[in-house]
Amino acid sequence: MAKARTSLRHIDVHEDDIKEEDAEETLDESMNPLEESGHTVDSSDEEVEDAVQEDMARFEETFVGINKRFRLINRIGEGTFSTVYKAEDLEYDKYGNTWDIDERENQKWSSPAQRRRPSRRPHYVAIKKIYVTSSPIRIFNELELLYDLRDSDSVCPLITAFRHLDQVVAVLPYFQHCDFRDYYRDMKISEMRPYFRSLLTALRAVHSKKIIHRDVKPTNFLYNPAQSRGVLVDFGLAEREGTDWHHCLCHVPDEDRRYRASHSVWAQNQAVSHSAPSYPKNDTRNSRRANRAGTRGFRAPEVLLKCTQQTVSIDMWSVGVILLTMLSRRFPFFHSADDIDALLEITTIFGRRKMRETAILHGQVFETNVPSYSEGGHTLEKIILWCTGRTGDKTQPKKELEEDEKEAVQFLYRLLECNPAKRITADEALRHPFLLRTFEDSEADEDMVDLVEV
Ligand SMILES: Nc1ncnc2c1ncn2[C@@H]1O[C@H](COP(=O)(O)OP(=O)(O)O)[C@@H](O)[C@H]1O
Ligand SMILES: [Mg+2]
Repeated sequence: MAKARTSLRHIDVHEDDIKEEDAEETLDESMNPLEESGHTVDSSDEEVEDAVQEDMARFEETFVGINKRFRLINRIGEGTFSTVYKAEDLEYDKYGNTWDIDERENQKWSSPAQRRRPSRRPHYVAIKKIYVTSSPIRIFNELELLYDLRDSDSVCPLITAFRHLDQVVAVLPYFQHCDFRDYYRDMKISEMRPYFRSLLTALRAVHSKKIIHRDVKPTNFLYNPAQSRGVLVDFGLAEREGTDWHHCLCHVPDEDRRYRASHSVWAQNQAVSHSAPSYPKNDTRNSRRANRAGTRGFRAPEVLLKCTQQTVSIDMWSVGVILLTMLSRRFPFFHSADDIDALLEITTIFGRRKMRETAILHGQVFETNVPSYSEGGHTLEKIILWCTGRTGDKTQPKKELEEDEKEAVQFLYRLLECNPAKRITADEALRHPFLLRTFEDSEADEDMVDLVEV
């Protein structure tokens, strides 16, 4: 039996509008969400493992002078490109601390006399030790973007940065948060709303500056469920929209795109051989290059299809993957070995037709002879019912999603939209009924309090 095959080929549009260099393709892959640490941070700082203790001692020894400014407490994260430590800021009172939201909150409730006195409580920071193997351009990029975003709501600000020899550290306010794996399974819909309000508030700010985060996923959004507050971190893969853009068909009007696709080499080959798809024997075209930096399972279809004009909307797809994870109670939801696999996972949900349309949008041809993918795909409602064991058998009445889940799914469709031009923006998302309800609910609560007081 012939082996099942899935392939992607790009349409040659008979015009030299896709100029490509022969350089290597870019692929910065962030760590698989299951491998990443980012454990629940609590007050049990005393329990520091021996290996961590040794690691911190080595860091203090090699980074001369760091221990005068900071007292390292624990290792709190190990990402793909850095190790992050919790530390006490020993020189807090010597500097302005506009970044300190907690202090601002505390000041609100203290007397004028207390406010004049220097604060006694310890002040914590997160020290991000960027691996020395990272390129200087990349380190500079992360720090520069963080600096640009310093006044953005829900984005973790950069306090300062230091360099000693080849080692660079970024100092950020320490943000108490919980490990996503500890709460996503039990989250009620009403608890998801503030999570996404907070995340999208951050993304609205980031996107308004035309910055693409590129690595939106639970370990890069530190969330504190008790306070319904979160901060977006990790701008290690972020870039400004438009960097290294080359023309992509997704940016031309629909009519032009259809015309070009129907006059492409591929379309002409199709016209000649009506049966099985044919492939050029010696394809002399350069392979397409595009930035595919990000994390497996969170990449938007256009990233997988190597769109050469990616926009901030790639982040919105990743937000959709987080919501799908919460609603389906499956983490990680997508778990592919490579980009073709990842496209197939998306095909399982959205069907072949949608994938063909999406590929054409970016001047690519999507073909598969794997028989199990349906033409039309499945509804997200059905996927969620399946994942949460609510399908039952044929003898039982059909199960349905709860009303508030249905509302969440309407929002999810807007995020997991395969066409980036039609996908909801962060600003629109914050005005979507699913997220607006948070306000309505809390206003209703306040009304009730008023009634009690009267
Ligand atoms: N400001 C912070 N407060 C508390 N923990 C943090 C902070 N910044 C990062 N972390 C922890 O460190 C982990 C890695 O940080 P991140 O910036 O994502 O680095 P990487 O680029 O290596 O992924 C995060 O997932 C989180 O658990
Ligand atoms: Mg990270």
